[in-house]
Amino acid sequence: MQEMIMSQAQIQEACARIGAQLDERLSKDDRLPVFLCVMKGAINFMVDLMEHVHSDIITDYIRVSSYEGLGSTGKIVLKQDVSHSLEGRTVVIVEDVVDSGLSMHYLVEHLKEKYHPKDVIVTCLIDKQAKRKIDVKVDYCGMELKEDKFLVGYGLDYKGLLRNVPYVYVPTMDEVAGWEKALSREEAAKKELR
Ligand code: IMP
Ligand code: MG
Repeated sequence: MQEMIMSQAQIQEACARIGAQLDERLSKDDRLPVFLCVMKGAINFMVDLMEHVHSDIITDYIRVSSYEGLGSTGKIVLKQDVSHSLEGRTVVIVEDVVDSGLSMHYLVEHLKEKYHPKDVIVTCLIDKQAKRKIDVKVDYCGMELKEDKFLVGYGLDYKGLLRNVPYVYVPTMDEVAGWEKALSREEAAKKELR
């Protein structure tokens, strides 16, 4: 049986709550704040969250990777950097999950060192706390998860699959085996094309 972690209704509630809190905090800023989406996992959350923000904001995107299949590799690689000048602005980092904290720690340090923002605010959909390796400050989160679980859906993927499911859940091992089969068919098709 699939274990539901955040239903569509719970996700929408979280987006409304966090959006309103951010709106309140940002409306007094003189320079336009930047909502920085951490690709690719946070795209779904970014879209729904922004609907609840009515202040003027700029959007930007950054891409880091650390995760392979079911677990984090621990090594963070910057794959795509921001495209705006962040100097003197408030940056709201929009992330799907904070797990070991390594990616978020890397991101905050990277932004502060390279771009000198006025402030960095961290928001994530799920704050997974069981395997935290480094202290990171999460300002706003949709929910806290105390146990270590592998999640998919709503941007969270298994090897690129499942991002399109509109809720977050823990897949069964049978489901994972099914996705592996689909992925190996893809590999076979790729070889045929060569
Ligand atoms: P961290 O560096 O260990 O905190 O890992 C954070 C990144 O790993 C997030 O940006 C997520 O995209 C990804 N991630 C963490 N937990 C999960 C999960 O349960 N399923 C899918 N991706 C995850
Ligand atoms: Mg991510």
